[in-house]
Amino acid sequence: MKNLFRTKSIEQLTREAQDGSTGLKRVLTRMNLIALGIGAVIGTGIFVLTGHAAADFAGPAVALSYVLSGLGCLFAGLCYAEYSSALPISGSAYTYTYATLGEFMAWIIGWDLILEYLFAASTVAVGWSKHFIPFMKDFFGIQLPEHFCRAPLDYVDGKMIATENFINVPAILLIWVITALLVVGIKESVRFNNVMVAIKVVIILVVIALGWGYVNPDNLTPFIPENTGELGKFGWSGILKGAGVIFFAYIGFDAVSTAAQETKNPQKDLIWGMIGSLVICGILFVAMSVVLCGMVDYRELRVDAPVVYALEKAAGDGLKWLRMAVELAVLAGLSSVILVLLMGQPRIFLSMAKDGLLPPVFAKVHPKFRTPYITTIMTGLLCSVMAGFLPLNLLGELVSIGTLLAFTVVCIGVVVLRKTRPDMPRPFRTPLVPLIPILGALICVAQTVLLPSDTWLRLIIWMALGVVVYFLYGRKHSHLNAPE
Ligand code: ALA
Repeated sequence: MKNLFRTKSIEQLTREAQDGSTGLKRVLTRMNLIALGIGAVIGTGIFVLTGHAAADFAGPAVALSYVLSGLGCLFAGLCYAEYSSALPISGSAYTYTYATLGEFMAWIIGWDLILEYLFAASTVAVGWSKHFIPFMKDFFGIQLPEHFCRAPLDYVDGKMIATENFINVPAILLIWVITALLVVGIKESVRFNNVMVAIKVVIILVVIALGWGYVNPDNLTPFIPENTGELGKFGWSGILKGAGVIFFAYIGFDAVSTAAQETKNPQKDLIWGMIGSLVICGILFVAMSVVLCGMVDYRELRVDAPVVYALEKAAGDGLKWLRMAVELAVLAGLSSVILVLLMGQPRIFLSMAKDGLLPPVFAKVHPKFRTPYITTIMTGLLCSVMAGFLPLNLLGELVSIGTLLAFTVVCIGVVVLRKTRPDMPRPFRTPLVPLIPILGALICVAQTVLLPSDTWLRLIIWMALGVVVYFLYGRKHSHLNAPE
């Protein structure tokens, strides 16, 4: 029983962070990290979920949902920053938890992060494929065969049903191309990410600037529509529910911390990567959601592509070119989200394997490319099978609840570590401890409260599966079993 709570020593983690024994290449700069953060963050959330959250839960006040959720992420991000400056190891929240709350909780968080990285990447790949079909038609006049662009299974009204489709080929191909890029090198991957980020940020800025001219103040009044009598539908509870839904938009900034052992100056630059990208994206999100709800009545935004819809409705043919540009931004945006998430997952597996909680093969790094190629390929294969064949519409909220759980544990961990190891060198210190971590944890937990009960049930089932795997493998093979 005592073993479950054994922690990894700070001294050992510090040695590991410095000794370069992972074989990974230290090449990333501060700007690369900020771009990785933005790459992971701007995607399905802002382009799709904003419309749903406005139409169904928050109205124009979805901008406040973005502020609330963003504050939760900022506080959690400041906690991540303290840890990642002190323990710059690619395991991210998994490693931090190993140092504070012990092996069992660390495993649970590592297992939980599979939801944030692997499952989220599959979900976003399916979204990418959904946008790719109209893009090919609009831009090139090519009609892709629908049967080969969707999964053979669907999930409707709580039931799994077979569809007439066979396989989602575009999603699978995209994941394979990205996986190949990630195997070939971190520099190559970062270059691709930089280009995608430039495309999506420029287009978002143009949408905000031009869309502003079409904002009709009537659409923004009342800014917080009255509650309908149902908890979570408009009013303040709607803002909270909206925050839980659009939280997905912020997911990924923490993936920056998984690049710790490939960063030239991790103790200073990881914080820039996480907080910098978070602040930039938060501002863009709030501005974009105000413009979106200002252009059309929020009740009309329950559509697959709300940004394109709003531009079409508000500007008619006037901004046709911009609608096309938005389609391009969505594709670019989602592919960099997938890239960064598929970059993060193998690095967490690598840290877990180095601790003995996963088989040693997971820790292998390619001698020439200096990337964790086995776990990268395995992650890519799993991700593509899920995206190609499974109905992933049931996963979005599971990803969010899993990530919120990880953020909460990181916030609590900072307070614990300040008590247990006050002497640990901390190049960056979270301000106002314990206030900031407590607020971070509270906002994260609050966002889970109004998520549907079957999402909670799925989380519990996933975690229970993780506990079984731990007892079957990790507990027996943990390197902490061996005498010092
Ligand atoms: N934040 C990412 C997105 O919105 C996961 O797609």
